[in-house]
Amino acid sequence: MALSVLILAAGQGTRMRSRLPKVLQPLAGQPLLAHVIATATSLDAADICVVYGHGGDTVRERFDGLPLRWALQAEQHGTGHAVQQAMPETPDENQVLVLAGDVPLLTKQTLQSLIDGSAPGELSVLTVDMDDPTGYGRIIRNGDSVTSIVEQKDATEEQLEVREINTGVMLASAENMKRWLAELRNDNAQGEYYLTDIVALAVGEGIRVTGIKAQDPDEVMGINDKKQLAEAERAMQKKRVEELMEQGVGFADPARVDIRGTLTCGSDVFIDVNAVIEGDVHLGDNTVVESNNLIRDSKLGANNVVHSNCHIEGAVTGDACEIGPFARLRPGASLANKVKIGNFVEVKKSTIADGSKVNHLTYIGDTEIGTNVNVGAGTITCNYDGANKSKTIIGDDAFIGSGVQLIAPVTVGKGANVGAGTTLTKSAPDDQLTVGRARQVTIKGWKRPEKKT
Ligand code: UD1
Ligand code: CA
Repeated sequence: MALSVLILAAGQGTRMRSRLPKVLQPLAGQPLLAHVIATATSLDAADICVVYGHGGDTVRERFDGLPLRWALQAEQHGTGHAVQQAMPETPDENQVLVLAGDVPLLTKQTLQSLIDGSAPGELSVLTVDMDDPTGYGRIIRNGDSVTSIVEQKDATEEQLEVREINTGVMLASAENMKRWLAELRNDNAQGEYYLTDIVALAVGEGIRVTGIKAQDPDEVMGINDKKQLAEAERAMQKKRVEELMEQGVGFADPARVDIRGTLTCGSDVFIDVNAVIEGDVHLGDNTVVESNNLIRDSKLGANNVVHSNCHIEGAVTGDACEIGPFARLRPGASLANKVKIGNFVEVKKSTIADGSKVNHLTYIGDTEIGTNVNVGAGTITCNYDGANKSKTIIGDDAFIGSGVQLIAPVTVGKGANVGAGTTLTKSAPDDQLTVGRARQVTIKGWKRPEKKT
């Protein structure tokens, strides 16, 4: 039977107290809804439909280009009403799997076990036992079968004691679903059309409702407020770090790292506390990331050391490079092997060849640096004239003294020395010393001015 997945994402998420629609709130750097869409996509579904409403087009635009069907729920009258919006275009013979846009940690395996465990014609509900079920709909059972779901706000004292809860995930044939939805009423505490009421309707028709329990309560957490969002973040980070540790990556403290993208590592990588990884990052064999580093969309080679407090984005390094402390590699920074970038050095859109060193307080932009070059402290490549960017080229074995300004476009020859304090406006030839600084004079008999009375 073909599978239609429906993702409910129209709610405002009042409890978030935010102008950003709930399903766009970030979890591990991605909107909540992105996680649910990714899981839905991993199933073998005929179509995936997202019910949207609050936040309107901002939600839709965020997922532009993905193969999704969108159903508008212009006014949000509850989860049952939301499912109804997507049903006209869902063929009767399909199975409908309902997911919530605010349950982002759900795995493909768990959904597959729900799909595999349900018989055609039945209604299946994914449930879980929670230590603290506050806020969730409670599962009311009669032996093996579920007889109803009662929302927190509608529950009696006795029902509130139930620890088995509704995860919001349900599976039924579209034909049954359409018939039940048409019968929903909103005479409840919230004045909404609850999807959960289809359980009692199915039971009333003599159709069996199966409750299939998920193993891990963390996985089916619903995110309604910032506290739950933070809890889900930690749960997701814990899972990611555990996977990496299984692959042999070392962490000083698995609770003090954030992976908001994809991290792949060679062998014996070690990551100290407070690393934030964003986008696609690769760390080569034996690379060490010291404390407080942000690394985004970068590929670092083997045996690198990233000292504390660096900001690295869109950079590529070879082997045995040393970066920081307090260095900034910007997009297009490309270091070959054994390159050293020291403290308070910024590198942008530049290539630095083997063995070169830029150790202190320097800006290197739009530059090509050869092998074994030494760039002295406080050197600036002046690449921008207010309108255009120009290139600086520094040949192999060049030595740039401290406090040099290289006014691009300019070339420093191979083996050239540029004296400290030089403002280089013309190319410096190979193997020569070029100095451009005012001659030093001492004025004899000069006296300090005295304060007038
Ligand atoms: C819902 C379930 C509850 C379950 C819990 C699991 C109902 C009535 N209650 O409660 O039994 O334990 O999820 O997390 O179904 N939405 C719409 N349109 C609407 C209302 C909601 O699209 O009109 C979407 C929301 O964007 C959200 C999802 O449906 O993604 C769930 O809605 P929410 O209001 O968070 O329901 P809960 O109170 O958490
Ligand atoms: Ca919810």
